[in-house]
Amino acid sequence: MGRGLGFGKVILFNEHFVVYGIPAIVSAIGAKTTALVEQTPGSGYELKDERPETPGYKTEKFDQQKESLDIILKFMKIDTQHTHYTITLAGDLIAASGVGASAASCAAIARAFSDELNLNLSDQRVNEIAYEGEKGYHGTPSGIDNTAATYGGLIWYRRDGSKQLMERMRLRKPVEIVMGNTGKVADTKSVVAGVRERKEKEPEKYGRLLQDADHLVKNARKRLEDFNLEEVGAYMDENHKLLQEIGVSSPELDALVKLARDNGAIGAKLTGTGKGGYMVALTPGRELQNRVADEIDKHGSQALRTLIGV
Ligand code: MEV
Repeated sequence: MGRGLGFGKVILFNEHFVVYGIPAIVSAIGAKTTALVEQTPGSGYELKDERPETPGYKTEKFDQQKESLDIILKFMKIDTQHTHYTITLAGDLIAASGVGASAASCAAIARAFSDELNLNLSDQRVNEIAYEGEKGYHGTPSGIDNTAATYGGLIWYRRDGSKQLMERMRLRKPVEIVMGNTGKVADTKSVVAGVRERKEKEPEKYGRLLQDADHLVKNARKRLEDFNLEEVGAYMDENHKLLQEIGVSSPELDALVKLARDNGAIGAKLTGTGKGGYMVALTPGRELQNRVADEIDKHGSQALRTLIGV
């Protein structure tokens, strides 16, 4: 039996802008997806999805998941004519929008096949496979999610043409965050396409927003590396405004951001695709983290307590 894993992620700065070559910052979160691969005589494959989920996520993503898996099997040249494979997904990462669930599953599957078939794949190769698999969900992924899912840790990421550039970042110590789930499933493909359409219609406005996002993330990186968390939080608030301007927030996300800030979070923004999925709030210290998370739970949304920079 082959085993593999992929990290869940939180984008701290510049989702969407990253699609257009602007740098972004992403961190792995504590939760992971695991994959098991078993060979039996026969042909074809079966996917058993035992991940915890936001209700409706697996059904809504079913076709994309199948497309993604077919791409991965073809790209890895897995022979399903003469062998039957059972692939089982599990782990503690909730299958939901905004936490990198699709990328984590792609990296986990690539690693589990590598383990089962003794392919000895490097992380770089796993990342390439996960990127291909992400195309089943995204169409034109920037590569940030598969990079975070494969390598883990805290990453400065930039796409330069066809190149995917990553630098590892370090924090003085891990920092508590809270992620709040709107419970709504978002379709990355169509949200990304919507941004592209609006960008084409209003090139000047989007040119300015891209520039703002570029300055913002460079400043935020310095503050993160200096461990000036108050300022990092202020930049997260600014980043949320930019994301609102490109039309990827939603009333549910704005309400969660407000709730987190009203309860003491030092910064909050949507994370990932937007239009649903998750909000992330910077809440250093267990006490603040619990206060914000409890409040989110009380309001009927599901709070995830985790750390960045581990
Ligand atoms: C989704 O997690 C991140 C987006 O920026 C899309 C991408 O980078 O491919 C919205």
